[in-house]
Amino acid sequence: MLIPNTSPLFLPREDDDPAPQWDILFGNDHPLALEIGCGVGDFIAQMAALHPDLNFIALDFYNKGCIKTCKRLDKVGLTNVRVLRAEARSFIEACIPPESLQAVIINCPDPWPKLRHRKRRLVNTEFIAYLSGFMKPGADVYFATDFEDYGLDVAAFMVDQPGFVNQLAPDTYRHTLPGYPVSKYMRRFLELGQPIYYVHYRKL
Ligand SMILES: C[S@@+](CC[C@H](N)C(=O)[O-])C[C@H]1O[C@@H](n2cnc3c(N)ncnc32)[C@H](O)[C@@H]1O
Repeated sequence: MLIPNTSPLFLPREDDDPAPQWDILFGNDHPLALEIGCGVGDFIAQMAALHPDLNFIALDFYNKGCIKTCKRLDKVGLTNVRVLRAEARSFIEACIPPESLQAVIINCPDPWPKLRHRKRRLVNTEFIAYLSGFMKPGADVYFATDFEDYGLDVAAFMVDQPGFVNQLAPDTYRHTLPGYPVSKYMRRFLELGQPIYYVHYRKL
């Protein structure tokens, strides 16, 4: 049985619920930013504090992660985040209006290191094309990974991704991104001396 999440920042959701009315939920019409796979929420807690002008949706299908994320957010009293337990694609399909996101953030998604499992990776050219339909013109997409092969793959295919402009040019990826908070997984790998691969593009 799932441990119930009683935080006021948690948005319980059944499959057949109508799409949330984000401006009513947040009490303002600030632009929406989505973090896919928020884990235990250390990144979103920092990011939301840095950007009070954005409304953040923190998404993960891991219940304990959502609970930890909410506890962290509740402790610091942030009000510009809502946390949902859901799978990214089905959530976006059901709850995000077309061309409404100002930013999409994906940090250290599961790397599926075995060659035969790589097709399970969340981020690929099809997923970015799909996301693009939910992003405003001028919206940012951030990808960060500790896994070299994943980082190089995303950096390489994004160069040819229609409708996006590289924000790190002339580099296709970097190992530092000033002002971008460090997540739990990033910290873990940085402490081991392993670099993070950052990719940052903007929708035309
Ligand atoms: C390796 S962890 C990284 C967590 C966090 N982003 C960090 O950097 O510390 C990946 C997280 O993404 C979540 N996740 C993976 N695929 C997902 C999907 N399709 N929809 C929602 N969450 C997903 C997992 O449950 C897990 O919490």
